Amino acid sequence: MPKNFLTILDMPRDEARQVLLRAKEMKDGKVRTDLLAGKTLLLIFEKASTRTRVSFEVGVRQLGGDPVFITSRDSQLGRSEPLKDTARVLSRYADGLIVRTFGQEKLETLVKYGTIPVINALTDEYHPCQIMSDVLTMYERTPSLDEIKVAWIGDGNNMAHSFINAAATFGFALSLACPAGYLPDQGILDKARSLGADITLTDDPARAVAGAHYVNTDVWASMGQEEEQKKREAAFAGYAVDDVLMAKAAPGACFMHCLPAHRGEEVSEAVFEGPASIVWDQAENRLHMQKAIIEWIYSN
Ligand code: CP
Ligand code: NVA
Repeated sequence: MPKNFLTILDMPRDEARQVLLRAKEMKDGKVRTDLLAGKTLLLIFEKASTRTRVSFEVGVRQLGGDPVFITSRDSQLGRSEPLKDTARVLSRYADGLIVRTFGQEKLETLVKYGTIPVINALTDEYHPCQIMSDVLTMYERTPSLDEIKVAWIGDGNNMAHSFINAAATFGFALSLACPAGYLPDQGILDKARSLGADITLTDDPARAVAGAHYVNTDVWASMGQEEEQKKREAAFAGYAVDDVLMAKAAPGACFMHCLPAHRGEEVSEAVFEGPASIVWDQAENRLHMQKAIIEWIYSN
């Protein structure tokens, strides 16, 4: 059976810890440049991407493999060829699929009908590669992850869901502030809590950031929700991360954002460009962490 990475919970806790340590080693230059020799990984993207696409393409090359990028616009996926047929065809050509799409069930279909590993490069429900990279970014500053508090301010979206999973896997306390109607999925919360995660949910951003070492936010309208922008701007009024909110976090707290960011909406220009912001390290760590995830899948 191939290994897949559809959510952070696909990785047993001890293996996730190993992947974190390997990502740090890779960042320090210890990369197996022949890991993917002779292998082709297909990137199938049904939504826009800068970081995820480029960091995966570069990372696959650095591991000695060949990345091939396709979208639904220029493949038969956009003309309704069933995903289960696509999965079986692509499994005859390539050694893995790195997929950005809408519903998580599409990844599950690729797993069910294909015979090669599938990596989640963002769905409506989860963004596990991003949050694994964000865990690396926190770990570099505060190695005792079980002693930190992380705040999530804004939409209970794909990013929030993967943070919830990461809280269960890595043991940090997570406090989410989300307005009514934009809460994270209850089943995902229940599952993480059943695994021992320390998660609180409030509608008050000040409560969520109180004592937090890391303050995270994300766009208010994710890809596919563009027509809800105005409605969401109203719903998220008061959820912008600015200097006043950051002052309520722990001394020396860092600001995090997966990017792309909307300055003047979910984060102020001053916080985004200020000394607390670690967003460029987050972006860089995509490259290192994703290589470690690939190594987890392809090394025996
Ligand atoms: N953070 C992130 O996933 O960025 P892209 O949409 O540019 O890939
Ligand atoms: N929540 C955002 C993340 C983008 C990287 C989205 O899904 O569009």
